[in-house]
Amino acid sequence: MPDKNRAADFDGEVFLPSDDIIKSANIKEYSENYRRSIEDREGFWAEQAAQLEWYQPWDKVLDDSNKPFYKWFVGGKINIVHNAIDRHLKTWRRNKLAFIWEGEPGDVRTFSYHALNREVSQFANILRSMGVKKGDVVTIYMPQVPELVFAMLACAKIGAAHSVVYGGFSVEALAERIADAKSRVLVTADGGWRRGKVNDLKGIVDEAIRRSPTIESCIVTRRTGHEVYMESGRDFWLHDLKTLPIACSNGNCDTEQMDAEDPLFILYTSGTTGKPKGLVHTHGGYSVYTSTTHRYVFDIKDEDRWWCAADPGWITGHSYIVYGPLINGATIMLYEGAPNYPYPNRWWKMVEKYGITILYTSPTAIRGLMRFGDEWPRRYDTSSLRLLGSVGEPINPEAWRWYYEVVGQKRCPIMDTWWQTETGGFMITPLPVTPLKPGSATLPFFGNEVAVVDDKGHEVKPGEEGKLVIKSPWPGMARTIHRDPKRFVDTYWSQYKKQGWYTAGDSARRDKDGYYWIIGRIDDVLKVSGYRLGTAEIESALVSHPSVSEAAAIGLPHELKGNAIHTFVILKSGFSASPQLSEELRNHVSREVGAIAKPEDVTFVDSLPKTRSGKIMRRVLKAKALGEDVGDTSTLEE
Ligand code: WTA
Repeated sequence: MPDKNRAADFDGEVFLPSDDIIKSANIKEYSENYRRSIEDREGFWAEQAAQLEWYQPWDKVLDDSNKPFYKWFVGGKINIVHNAIDRHLKTWRRNKLAFIWEGEPGDVRTFSYHALNREVSQFANILRSMGVKKGDVVTIYMPQVPELVFAMLACAKIGAAHSVVYGGFSVEALAERIADAKSRVLVTADGGWRRGKVNDLKGIVDEAIRRSPTIESCIVTRRTGHEVYMESGRDFWLHDLKTLPIACSNGNCDTEQMDAEDPLFILYTSGTTGKPKGLVHTHGGYSVYTSTTHRYVFDIKDEDRWWCAADPGWITGHSYIVYGPLINGATIMLYEGAPNYPYPNRWWKMVEKYGITILYTSPTAIRGLMRFGDEWPRRYDTSSLRLLGSVGEPINPEAWRWYYEVVGQKRCPIMDTWWQTETGGFMITPLPVTPLKPGSATLPFFGNEVAVVDDKGHEVKPGEEGKLVIKSPWPGMARTIHRDPKRFVDTYWSQYKKQGWYTAGDSARRDKDGYYWIIGRIDDVLKVSGYRLGTAEIESALVSHPSVSEAAAIGLPHELKGNAIHTFVILKSGFSASPQLSEELRNHVSREVGAIAKPEDVTFVDSLPKTRSGKIMRRVLKAKALGEDVGDTSTLEE
C-alpha cells in the first residue's frame, strides 16, 4: 500500500504550468535543451560561462585528466565578487536594491549595489589590514545579519577563502572547524535575536578559541548590544575598525584576480565519522553553476524580489542567498529570526510588505507554518508571489499541497530542488515549465546525467529503490575535502570507481516517466528539520560526558522535523540512569554541537548491537524502535 504521506510512495496527480508561467519562463522547453546539453556538455557550460565577466578567458572548459579531481575553465581568471558586485556598478544596477534585511525585533536595513560594494570594500580593507591574504581561511560565525554577507564577500574579494560556521552550532562544532581550517581571523557578533532572546555567540566564541588557539584576531559586529567580554589585543569591534583610515575609503578596494580553480570557500558538512568534511568550492565553476541554475530554475528577472529563507551558514544560503542571486543582479531578502515570532504571520507579513515574488524554503518550515492554519497566510496579500521552492529533505504531499494551494494560491509552481553541499547547486530540479508531481524533484538539470543503480551499478527497474549516482562532472562540484583528498575519493568516488560515478549517499526511485523521487540518506547522516547532522557527532558529544561509556544515535520519522534524533547510552560504572541524567545529557549535546542536535530522548541500555569488528549497527536499533523486522543480523556479535 502506498503511503500518501511519504513522498516516494506517491505518484498520482500531475500539475501543469500555466500559460503565464510558460510565457515568462527563461527556458520554455526542457527535453530538447537537455538533450543538447548532454551531447555537448562543454559547449553548454562554455555558453553559460560566457555570460559572466572574466579577467582572462579559459583555455579549456573541462580538464578530466586527473579524475575525480576535475577542473573547470582552466586558465581562466575571474573573481566571483567581480561578477556579484563590481560589474553591476558599471550599469543602472548600481542604484538597484541588492539587499533587504529585516531583524527579528523589526528593524530594517536596505542596501543598493552601490552600498553593498561600499560595505564589502570596507570590510575587505579591514581584513587586508589584519594581514589576511590569498590562501588564508577566515572563519565566520554570525547571526543572520547583513555583516555576515559582507564578510563572506569581503573574503572572496581579496582572495581569502571563507569558512562559515552556522550560528546555531555550538562550542565543540565551532572549535573543530576553526582547528581544521587553521584560521587566524574570526568574524563574529555579540549575538543575534532568536525568539526574542539573545543567542550569545560571543560567549561560545570565547570558549571555542580556548579549545582552538589558532585565532589571533576576532572582528565583532555589534548586533544585540548586550555586554560581552572583549579580549584586549584580540577582539575588535567592527564599528571601531571602520573608523581606521584604511576602511574609510568609500568602496575603494581592488578585487583580487583569481584563477578559476582557486578556492572560494570551505564549508564543513557532516559525514559518517565524527570529523566534519571541509568541502572546497572554487571561484570559476561555482560562479557559473550557481548563477545558471538560479537563472533557469527560478526564472529570475530584474523585477523580482527573491527570498531564500535559509541561513547563509549552510550551502543553500551560500549558493542561493548570496552568490547565485547577486551574480544575477537580483534583489535578495534576508530575515534574522524565527518564522513564527512573535506570531505565525511573520513570513506572510514580510512577503506582503516587501512584495516578495519568489520564496524558497524547506519542507520543515512549511510544515511548521502549516500547523498554525490557513488563516495566517490568507490574512495577507501574497499575490506578488509567482514561484515557490523547496529544498533540504523530501517534501511530503500534504505539505506540498498546502504550499501550493494556500501559499501560492494554485498559481505558483513549486521548484523541489535536490542537491547537496557537495554539488554546489541544484542537480535534480524542475524548471518552471516542467509538469510537477508533488514530492518528486523531477528531472536532472542541464548537463547532468543521473541514475538510480544497485550495488553493482546496474540501473534498477522503474519504481524500484536504488542508490542515486551522478555519472558526469558539472562545474559546481566540490573539488576536494580540505586537507583530506583521500577522504574525498573514498567517500564519493570509490563505490563506483570503475564507472567513475559520484555517489550521493541518498536512495531514490525513478518512475516510468523518468522522474526522480528522493527517499533519504543511506549513510549515517541525518536530516533533522532539513539540517544535516552526523550520528557520529552526536555520539562523540555524548561520550565526552563523564558519565557515558558508549553511545548510539539514530533518526526516526518525525511529523514536523522529518527526522528526529534518538539516542542510546551505556553508562560508566558508578553512574545510574535517571530522568535528571537524561536531561543533562540532552543539554550536553546541545552545548557541544548545537540546539539543532539536541536528542529527543536518551534511552539507557546495557549493550548496543555491534558487528564483530565493533561497529554499532544503527540499522538494528532503528528497526527495533520502529517495530520492523531487524533483517540480516548474521554479522551481529551478540
Ligand atoms: C537532502 C542541502 C529530498 C538529501 C541543499 C541530500 C533533499 C541532503 C532535497 C544534502 C530534496 C536536499 N528532496 N531530499 N529536494 N534537497 N535533500 O548538504 O538527502 O545540507 O543528500 O544540502 O539533503 O544536504 P545538504
